[in-house]
Amino acid sequence: MSVFEHCQFDNHEAVYFCRDEASGLCAIIALHSTLRGPAMGGTRMVPYASDEEALTDVLRLSRGMTFKNVMAGLPFGGGKAVIIGDPAKDKSAALLQAYAVEIERLQGRFVTGEDVGIGMADVQAMSSVTAHIRGVPDGGAGDPSPFTASGVYDGIVAAVRHRLDRGSVEGIHVLVQGLGAVGMRLAERLFAAGARLSVTDTNPNRVEEARERFAAEAVDIASCCAADVDVYAPCALGATLDAATIPTLKASVVAGGANNQLATAEDGRRLHERGILYAPDYVINAGGVISTAHAGPSFDMGRMLDHVGRIAGTLEDIFRLSKAEGLPTSVIADRLARKRLADAAATTR
Ligand code: NAI
Repeated sequence: MSVFEHCQFDNHEAVYFCRDEASGLCAIIALHSTLRGPAMGGTRMVPYASDEEALTDVLRLSRGMTFKNVMAGLPFGGGKAVIIGDPAKDKSAALLQAYAVEIERLQGRFVTGEDVGIGMADVQAMSSVTAHIRGVPDGGAGDPSPFTASGVYDGIVAAVRHRLDRGSVEGIHVLVQGLGAVGMRLAERLFAAGARLSVTDTNPNRVEEARERFAAEAVDIASCCAADVDVYAPCALGATLDAATIPTLKASVVAGGANNQLATAEDGRRLHERGILYAPDYVINAGGVISTAHAGPSFDMGRMLDHVGRIAGTLEDIFRLSKAEGLPTSVIADRLARKRLADAAATTR
């Protein structure tokens, strides 16, 4: 398995392969950049089919965290970790402890917290071994999902203003794909503001809840991208926008909370060529990481909410530049992120 030649390597500063035989720990910690501060990103535990799959995931997510943190104006770099295993079967106190020892060894270069398969209780268990953990009840705002949903809602309003020339989401038809911690709250906000909702989820109970609470229309999962709506809000899995789904989209705005919505960089161009306004995922869904970054002894809820409120302004800048230069919003966002990183590199030289 080649690491330096990996298509997702993108000049990672360091990649650590961690093994503890006694507890069964197999983990990869990827630090993409510490130029603007410690690399911050969650730890996920997933039963990857192969080490290669785990490596690809951690490299892609780690780079994404650098871009997310820099565009949110946070004093953090980007990193991510994956523990290879089934959280239901393989997670144990000994494994979490062994993993926390690895975090501690990095002496603060990596700051982590919960993600898929790693919950609040796990993070709390790790915090007895290492201080380089966020998301424990330490005077912060707690669950980051409401703040992610809030940033996504503001981003949808900004996108609707830019693309559909409408001052609010009243009467706008939005498809929310995925009614979890982010999607259900987003649906709640949209409904309260007068939007018309279509929804889809693999969990029928969540669809039923949205039908009852928000008079939402249920749409089929397989063909949801082709739903006749104004806004498509992906809030479930990544990579739902690709060469097959983009030609079927009827929405003129794509703006949602999911990470890595574009299957490939080329898909940003495909959306642009179809005249569909895409709110870059790592910009619009930064509310959660902003709330986590603000946690600590001097936590100030008002300051944190102001910071989340600035997401929409960043998106507006991206939309304006995209229109002025005729380039996809995904290209503009990547360019702004890389410029800010280059500026940080110049000041550390
Ligand atoms: P969640 O696990 O609470 O909810 C995901 C929902 O999607 C569940 O209701 C699940 O049943 C549904 N789902 C799964 N596969 C589906 C499919 N194929 N079609 C339709 N629905 C499907 O997750 P959460 O926290 O709401 O996160 C949603 C997305 O937002 C994820 O991509 C996550 O990485 C991203 N995200 C979440 C943040 C947060 O603060 N929770 C922060 C930034 C990004």
